[in-house]
Amino acid sequence: MAVVAIVGGHCGDEANGKIVDHVAEKATIVARFSGGDNAGHTVINPYGEFRLHLVPSGIFNAQVTCIIGNGVAINPTVLLQEIADLQSHGVSTSRLFISDRAHLIMPYHTLLDALEEETRSKDALGTTHRGIGPVFADKIARLGIRTGDLLDNDVFRGRLSSALELKNTILTKVYGAPPLSLEEIYDQYCRFGEQLAPFIRETSSMIRAAAAKGEFVLLEGAQGALLDPDFGTYPYVTSSSPLAGAGCIGAGLGPREIDRVVGVFKAYNTRVGAGPMPTELKDETGDLIRTKAHEYGATTSRPRRCGWFDAVAGRFSVQINGLSDIALTHLDIYDGFRSVKICTAYEFNGEILTSFPADVATLEQCRPIYEELEGWQGSISGTRRFEKLPAGARKYVSRLEELLACPISLVSVGPGREQVIAAEALNRQASTVDS
Ligand code: IMO
Ligand code: MG
Repeated sequence: MAVVAIVGGHCGDEANGKIVDHVAEKATIVARFSGGDNAGHTVINPYGEFRLHLVPSGIFNAQVTCIIGNGVAINPTVLLQEIADLQSHGVSTSRLFISDRAHLIMPYHTLLDALEEETRSKDALGTTHRGIGPVFADKIARLGIRTGDLLDNDVFRGRLSSALELKNTILTKVYGAPPLSLEEIYDQYCRFGEQLAPFIRETSSMIRAAAAKGEFVLLEGAQGALLDPDFGTYPYVTSSSPLAGAGCIGAGLGPREIDRVVGVFKAYNTRVGAGPMPTELKDETGDLIRTKAHEYGATTSRPRRCGWFDAVAGRFSVQINGLSDIALTHLDIYDGFRSVKICTAYEFNGEILTSFPADVATLEQCRPIYEELEGWQGSISGTRRFEKLPAGARKYVSRLEELLACPISLVSVGPGREQVIAAEALNRQASTVDS
């Protein structure tokens, strides 16, 4: 098993960080391949509790080389703060590297993200205001500035002055905002360049070399499948692809290099920001899930919208990611629920839909069709073997496997690194499910 991608299955916040931290002890490389500091990966382990936005969640393992790949957009202020925080907790960052091809989030990106959202008014997307849309737009428009540009002040100044000329025109003429100062940004980013220089290098060859040697390489995804610009709930999406396929492009591997794709799903669904969510619960059950699981954004602290598991969206995610297996997280949140529901199809204009629609107008009118399963009492957070789970929990896991047509190889029963029922334990007989 050489290269494994770990990706968010629904709308992000599925606890990728926890899963990566859990399996990273056997890895030699963990690479982030998409997104930026819109991601918030919570990791709780013997070093403490961390919310990582840019640094890969493998950083807590001394033997792991952590790479922020070319597909990630980097805000240097956030990254340097994160590095300092890790170091102050005794976590070494000496094996952290940043791709010289990764794009930089500039002050105008965050500013424009906020101004664009304000202009959208009631149609705001609910972005994280981290400059994600503007930085990836500039990348594709060939206006971006990359970390490698920081290594040569003249190159950097040239790229900054041409980009800033256009950005200042937009800021002043479109938004009536004051222009940004070339000198201030130049000085600030030259200082960032000095601090980041030891980390910046060509990273894709490191990843390919490890893969060629058969080493265990983890590609850490951010966000989730339904936030993909192509297959997600467009325009309520992010601006880089969170899908496993992007793991190749965002790290520098060929499509034949990924051996296994693990999709991380929560036992229920959440979504932050605007956009359709057919299974959203705007009632006390939704509130209960939010309170029990502390469903507030790791990046923005916004309350997350909570709802039952949507297996229609889940199946779609299995297909577009080409998932080999699933890590199911937060199953313990359902402890004490008398019953739990799974959305197995949608009803749209009197028709039954079993596949995920492409347009949000349809999705907004879809009503979930639920299957109700018996819940379970007592806490499962100390359980480490599948057969020790209460019957309700076992049936729930098995039913999800059936509905998603994909095996569940890991179940997380609490936030801690060790609170998992791992693959070996899940290698169970069908008969144990019904007992
Ligand atoms: P992790 O990696 C959940 C959502 C935002 C918004 C939309 C667009 O922690 O799973 P953006 O700032 O990317 O332009 O916002 O995407 N979003 C996330 N939701 N988890 C994330 O990352 C997210 N990153 C972006 O809330 O709806
Ligand atoms: Mg998040």
